[in-house]
Amino acid sequence: MNRTFDVVVIGAGPGGYIAAIRAAQLGFSVACCEFNSYDDPAGEPRLGGTCLNAGCIPLKALVSSSELFEKISHHLEDHGITVNGLHMDVLRMQKRKESIVDRMTGGVQFLFRKNGVTLLKGRASFAGRVDEGYRIVVRSKDGDEEVLAKKVIIATGSKARHIPNVKVDNETICDNEGAMKFTEPPKRLGIIGAGVIGLEIGSVWRRLGAEVTVLEVMPSFLGACDESISRQASKLFLKQGLHIRLGVKIGQAKLTESGVSISYTDDQGAEHLLECDRLIVSIGRVPNTEELNLEAIGLQTDERGFIPVDDHCATASSGVYAIGDVVRGPMLAHKAEDEGVMAAEMIAGMKPHIDYGSMPWVIYTTPEIAWVGKTEQQLRSEGRDYKTGQFPFSANGRALSLGDSDGFVKMIADAKTDEILGVHIIGSNASDLIAEAALAMEFRASSEDVARTCHPHPSLSEAVREAALAIEKRALNI
Ligand code: FAD
Ligand code: NAI
Repeated sequence: MNRTFDVVVIGAGPGGYIAAIRAAQLGFSVACCEFNSYDDPAGEPRLGGTCLNAGCIPLKALVSSSELFEKISHHLEDHGITVNGLHMDVLRMQKRKESIVDRMTGGVQFLFRKNGVTLLKGRASFAGRVDEGYRIVVRSKDGDEEVLAKKVIIATGSKARHIPNVKVDNETICDNEGAMKFTEPPKRLGIIGAGVIGLEIGSVWRRLGAEVTVLEVMPSFLGACDESISRQASKLFLKQGLHIRLGVKIGQAKLTESGVSISYTDDQGAEHLLECDRLIVSIGRVPNTEELNLEAIGLQTDERGFIPVDDHCATASSGVYAIGDVVRGPMLAHKAEDEGVMAAEMIAGMKPHIDYGSMPWVIYTTPEIAWVGKTEQQLRSEGRDYKTGQFPFSANGRALSLGDSDGFVKMIADAKTDEILGVHIIGSNASDLIAEAALAMEFRASSEDVARTCHPHPSLSEAVREAALAIEKRALNI
């Protein structure tokens, strides 16, 4: 007799594990399937998906360690602090990263036990429909188990996109998985793709001493950001020694005695060869759907491999939802989590809603870049009248005392109604500052609402208020 669950979630990344927990909170019997052991020595599935095992969390651990190293190496003199004999133990840094990952993935196991979520260890695929739901086969080294699900949430996430003539071995030529495991900083690091991963991982190894060259196919840098932010980021990254070549066409990568050589054509058509010790390929990600046997339940992916869903993440098969990286929209952990909650609440007959327009983005470089809402260039192309206010961290006392005064906050509001349409930050702690802007936009606040809200002094958040004040040309500290 097959086990039956009210809800079966496929994939235990931030989308899937949050969906499973929310569904359990709502009183359903829930199972969640996961197979990926992410190199677990015992071969046990590790929960938390890309985010906890090979993405957000390990990368931010490395970002923090490398930022500290750079700060101590170069930015303590003004504080009157001299450090002699500074040494970076990369193996120790990697151990710290791994212990954070262990703790977080173990935490998800704990949450499953606490909420009564059954973990089904193995690869899940659809076997067909039955009157009361769906047949799902979970394949593992111990054999196959077929379970029945009244409702299904697909949360199988994504994997790195590769290019045919650049073969990833995750030793010399790496995607996100290998690129975070180096045991020493490469002397010369090549990166294909100046997107979020390229810039974050590239900055980690640059801070630890690598000479980093980034090869980007697009003629412009950080095209998704407000253009004022991209300009400032480009200047700061250049000053930090990151070499970024735009408008290139990648040729062939070849392993050499010392590492790898990669040929490319620049924007003028000239041919080049980049010799490096290691190469990272970070050119976007593709959804994981090929193992699901979606045809068995009458579903098809779109031309890019995503599962088509409506605004509430419902697929064309009744009672089957799909969330996170496997569906349209930004590939972000917090987007996957919010969709997980929404799918579980839809199953419970509630009326959840996600405002994708007030979903924040962060890039964890130095300084951090964060934004929510629309950019100036988007608003111009929509023909919308708007006003802007900008405030630099160099006029903020807290930023000066932290020694992190690069960057600014820019707020954009509707010219007539004053509703906030976008907030763009480049600066220290932008990842935390942007939450205030996201909340303001979720409540459809005006710039005046933020300008009239008392902010703590001295704090970086005062720069957000000053940017709001600057919209009416009444910033007080500049
Ligand atoms: P995933 O996290 O990919 O999880 C899907 C899970 O499903 C996986 O564990 C997989 O093994 C499992 N699975 C797949 N197929 C099956 C199957 N057939 N049966 C059973 N299980 C299956 N986002 C941010 O918001 N902030 C960041 O700072 C950030 N940093 C990142 C850094 C890197 C290097 C990378 C690669 C990504 C980063 N992201 C970040 C993106 C974020 O990790 C993803 O958006 C997020 O993990 C997507 O969650 P998900 O649940 O949809 O999928
Ligand atoms: P990305 O989409 O951010 O950037 C890929 C870059 O590679 C783009 O600039 C693209 O123009 C370029 N590119 C594509 N094909 C190329 C080619 N053939 N040659 C040269 N350049 C090429 O993708 P990335 O960096 O791989 O990250 C994947 C996703 O993971 C991101 O989109 C993001 O959603 C998520 N992520 C989020 C983070 C965060 O929130 N802080 C951190 C890291 C990843």
